[in-house]
Amino acid sequence: PMEQTVAVIKPDAVGTKDEIIDRIHESGFRIAAQKETNLTRELAEEFYAEHKGKEYYDDLVEHMTSGPTYIMVLSREDAVQGWRQVIGPTDPEKAKEENPDSLRAAYGKNILQNAVHGSSTAEHADVTVKKIFGDLKFAPDGTVI
Ligand code: CMP
Repeated sequence: PMEQTVAVIKPDAVGTKDEIIDRIHESGFRIAAQKETNLTRELAEEFYAEHKGKEYYDDLVEHMTSGPTYIMVLSREDAVQGWRQVIGPTDPEKAKEENPDSLRAAYGKNILQNAVHGSSTAEHADVTVKKIFGDLKFAPDGTVI
């Protein structure tokens, strides 16, 4: 069955947005919805709530609010795991070793400025879609109805 995930091009990689979007299409995803937005502090904190308390949390919120982000809803079979595979490990150095074709290997600068984000679960994706795009309904082909 079709599944949705949320992909975010982070401020450090918005300059390579077109190349990343090419990779999204090559990897069989449909971009069901998309918007460029400057995340507010409140939204960034909510988005990364599960990381609150980590030593990098303040830097993370700072980075994600430092400039525009490009947020997309991607549809595909097995979209959540599939997109995580395309982006690769959190740390670009690790990505270069373990998944050299991944987006973080190609575009990530360091573990914080790692170019792209992907939802960790389908549930987290649904919550994020609702928050950022509202109540979207998806057709069986993954487009928005
Ligand atoms: P992301 O997959 O968007 O989810 C959480 C983010 O926190 C992660 O990508 C990185 O940008 C950041 N992050 C995770 N671990 C670290 C770390 N050890 N140091 C700095 N930033 C981190």
